[in-house]
This record gives sequence, C-alpha cells and structure tokens, in this order.
Amino acid sequence: MTITHERTSEVLACFYRVERAGAARLSDGGGPFGFDIHTALLVEDLISSYHPAAVVETGCHLGDTTKYLAMAYPDLPVFTCDIDPDATRFTAHRLRNERHVTVACCNSPDLVAEVDARHSPGLYFLDAHWGEHWPLRQELESITSGIAVVHDFDIGHPRFSFDEYGGVRCGPELLAQVPHLADLFFTPDPEISYPLPCLQVGRRAGVGVVPIGVDPSPMYENPHLTSHSLQTVRKGAS
Ligand SMILES: C[S@@+](CC[C@H](N)C(=O)[O-])C[C@H]1O[C@@H](n2cnc3c(N)ncnc32)[C@H](O)[C@@H]1O
Repeated sequence: MTITHERTSEVLACFYRVERAGAARLSDGGGPFGFDIHTALLVEDLISSYHPAAVVETGCHLGDTTKYLAMAYPDLPVFTCDIDPDATRFTAHRLRNERHVTVACCNSPDLVAEVDARHSPGLYFLDAHWGEHWPLRQELESITSGIAVVHDFDIGHPRFSFDEYGGVRCGPELLAQVPHLADLFFTPDPEISYPLPCLQVGRRAGVGVVPIGVDPSPMYENPHLTSHSLQTVRKGAS
C-alpha cells in the first residue's frame, strides 16, 4: 500500500462505524464493500494516486458503502443510485445530512454517463446487479475517463466469489466484450499482506480494477495489484 498511516487510520475509523444495514438481504452480511476492508484500502490507494474529481457507486442497496464513502471522503462529490425506489429512498434518508452525496433512483449507466460528462477522472465502484438486466457492460461503455472497480469479479482464487449472468462471468470475459477498453486490467493479490486484517469470515468478493482513459502507471506501481492482459481472452472469443 502506498497510503499514509494517517489515511489507513481514517479508513479504519470510518469503516467500522458503518452499520451493516445490508445484512437484511446481502449474503455477505452487508457492510461497506461487502465488509472487506482490503477493498476499502484499495479504493483509498486509488483515490490517493489518481485524485478523482468524484466517486460513484452503482447499486447502493441500503447504503452501507455509500455511508462509508460519505464519511471517508467528505471533500469529494459522491454519487450513487439504485433502480429500486425503496432502496433509493432508504439510502437517501440515511445520507440526508451529507450534502456532498447525491442519491438517485435510475438505471446505473445513466448515472455513470452523467458523472463522466462532468467529472474527470471519476472513481467508479460498480456494484449494480440482481435484476434481469445486468448493467455492467453498459456502465463500462459509459466511462471515458476514470478508474472502474468492479465488484464480484472473478480473480481466479477460491476464497473470492464472483457473479455470473446469462452464462457470462463477471471477469475478464465480460471486460473483453467492451470494445473501447484497453487490453489491460488489474486484480488485487490476495497473498500480499495488508496494514489491517480483513474481518469478513463469510463471503468475500473479488474485484477487478480497470483504467479507462487514464495513465495505468500508478496501478503498475501498486504492490497489491497484479496486471493482466485481455488479449488472449479477446483472441479466444473471436
Ligand atoms: C449487491 S447490491 C449493492 C450493495 C451496495 N453497493 C452495498 O455495498 O451495500 C446490488 C444493488 O444493485 C441494484 N441494481 C440492480 N440493477 C440496477 C441498475 N440497472 N441500476 C441501478 N441499480 C441496480 C439492486 O437493486 C441492488 O440494490
């Protein structure tokens, strides 16, 4: 990790102050980033390297990650959305005192396109799914400048879960379907030690990190990230 001791302490302080409201439905018991503080540290690392103009979460559900982002990044505009009006209402009420947070009820690619047009680069935590329509591909197509952190991504490690819709894994094969992406993505190395322990003993989700229209150098320099090429996946599909 390249983040300072102060920022690590700040992540720790914010992370465990968030109630796990999502436990009502989420198989991981809820909490910010599926209660995986390593993902919070990774996002902090990316934010300290790229200084994004805005942070976006797609699929807020009951607002656990939104609440964390609001607390950890009080000086950044935070945007989130959900297609479910009840979830959106709940999250908007939960975040009602946070003036830098916008909670919208909409289809996530619409929010991504809107923020992408106004804030460059953006940090996008892509976590909208569950419905019949899986918006991830459209979300990625809507980003022209930013860092996408894709949740529930197949990192090829048995401890980490991932999603699959319509026979397509949330992983390299999905990224390969998005024409404007470079051939490059990154995954965290689960074997490398982190400054804080992960207390999620249940389901952990993999994440994929995709640079879109930004310099990937800080990702190459990050000792917690491993780079991968999409070339072989694309060749295999054609
Ligand atoms: C796994 S939950 C998100 C959890 C949340 N990010 C958190 O950390 O607590 C997925 C959410 O995505 C929402 N969703 C599904 N399709 C969507 C779409 N097209 N646009 C916006 N939200 C969507 C669902 O209603 C659900 O609340």
